[in-house]
Amino acid sequence: MLKIAVLASGGGTNLQAIIDAVAAKTLADVEISVVISNNQNAFALERAAKAKIAAVCISPKEFESREAFNRAFLDKLNGYRVDLVVLAGFLVVISPEMIAEYRNRIINIHPSLIPSFCGKGFYGLNVHKEALKRGVKVTGATVHFVDEGTDTGPIILQRAVEVKEGDTPKTLQRRVMEEAEWKILPEAIDLIARGYVCVKDGRVVREGE
Ligand code: GRF
Repeated sequence: MLKIAVLASGGGTNLQAIIDAVAAKTLADVEISVVISNNQNAFALERAAKAKIAAVCISPKEFESREAFNRAFLDKLNGYRVDLVVLAGFLVVISPEMIAEYRNRIINIHPSLIPSFCGKGFYGLNVHKEALKRGVKVTGATVHFVDEGTDTGPIILQRAVEVKEGDTPKTLQRRVMEEAEWKILPEAIDLIARGYVCVKDGRVVREGE
């Protein structure tokens, strides 16, 4: 049984995709032990509560310094003894201590085909605005391990999505979620749960399938 924590700051549609996959048993042998948010109004917390999953809010605003928050956050997370941490729209920078402690055990979903439209400032609708501005005909989503850089860790899965004539950032965001994010995030967790994902020389290799 792979125990996971899902970290989310907002709506939590990616969290919902994981909850649904666990319920449908397409994600077998996976348990969502906790959902953690930095935002007490995050709808993700309601989704967790509805699915009877522990829902925790820990906000940087409650702490005197970022260091104190990072320490408390890591302590809280460690208490759940999870095997994998899933960042599903989590807008807080992960501390270097946490990355070191959870090396190759934190994954993130990014709404573009990395290395396009990623790095500092590329989050939320901005990613899709920039893709439309550049006029790309294909975009998509990427699930990757989290390392010390921004969106630089080993890539686990990617899926391409067509950009259509007349797309707005919102319509494109929705299509990328529906056709890519909500599919490849549970798929990546499944691959990890089955032990098929290894990191070698900074890249993901699939083994044992
Ligand atoms: C998604 O677009 C995800 O790729 C990005 O943040 C958004 C989160 O959406 N990292 P939701 O909270 O899962 O609905």
